[in-house]
Amino acid sequence: LEHLLAPKDLAGKKILITAGPTREPIDAVRYLSNRSSGRMGLALARAAWLRGGEITVVHGPITVPLPPYLKAIPVETAKEMLEAVMDRFPETDILVMAAAVADYRPKEIFPGKIKKSSQNTLIELEPTEDILLAVAQVKRVDQIVIGFAAEEGAKLLEEARRKLKVKKLDLIVANDISRPETGFEIDTNEVWLISSTGKEEKIPLAPKDQVAWQIWDCIVELLGG
Ligand code: CTP
Ligand code: CA
Repeated sequence: LEHLLAPKDLAGKKILITAGPTREPIDAVRYLSNRSSGRMGLALARAAWLRGGEITVVHGPITVPLPPYLKAIPVETAKEMLEAVMDRFPETDILVMAAAVADYRPKEIFPGKIKKSSQNTLIELEPTEDILLAVAQVKRVDQIVIGFAAEEGAKLLEEARRKLKVKKLDLIVANDISRPETGFEIDTNEVWLISSTGKEEKIPLAPKDQVAWQIWDCIVELLGG
């Protein structure tokens, strides 16, 4: 019924959404990752599907269940996510990068398991590819790209504005991860939406499904103008 009643204002739009963390292997049994659950990305995917969009979700390792009606592409590392996104970006109308991509990965993956007895206490890291920077280089004017900014406290807006510019985004969704009710592994969020046109709007604390709906309201507005 929900699907029947929703406005179909995303009909015909090809939408690519990334969700969840990435996982960067250290050895055969260990990895570096982060606390992203994929909830916000999936909430955005469900909302866009209800509104008639054609959705593909590229997701890292997540435990929240994926609805069967969403086309899902599972990946593990930042590099795999980059490849999955770049492959599909040319035929994408709207890209939403909700994934928490690892910024660094172990420089070398140890083959097999590192033994405790090796007394190895150092892991050398190297930067991962920044997917949104790669997208910015090939983005066409008819494509819309939305990024996220996970920030702590006072610098939230300043940092989000900087990322909006550097990553050449149409819209950035910023949230304060230092507050328990807007952080990780939780069903609520409060976000700021900052668009490249200079509009800044706060979406008050609400369940992630509701926040997702309002983010799409804002994106639909961008499509219109
Ligand atoms: N992002 C990306 N590729 C990366 C890292 C991040 O595409 N290697 C995307 C995220 O999916 C998000 C946006 O960039 O949409 C901002 O991510 P965030 O971690 O907040 O910013 P960073 O640029 O990584 O900077 P920092 O972590 O230092 O705040
Ligand atoms: Ca980061």
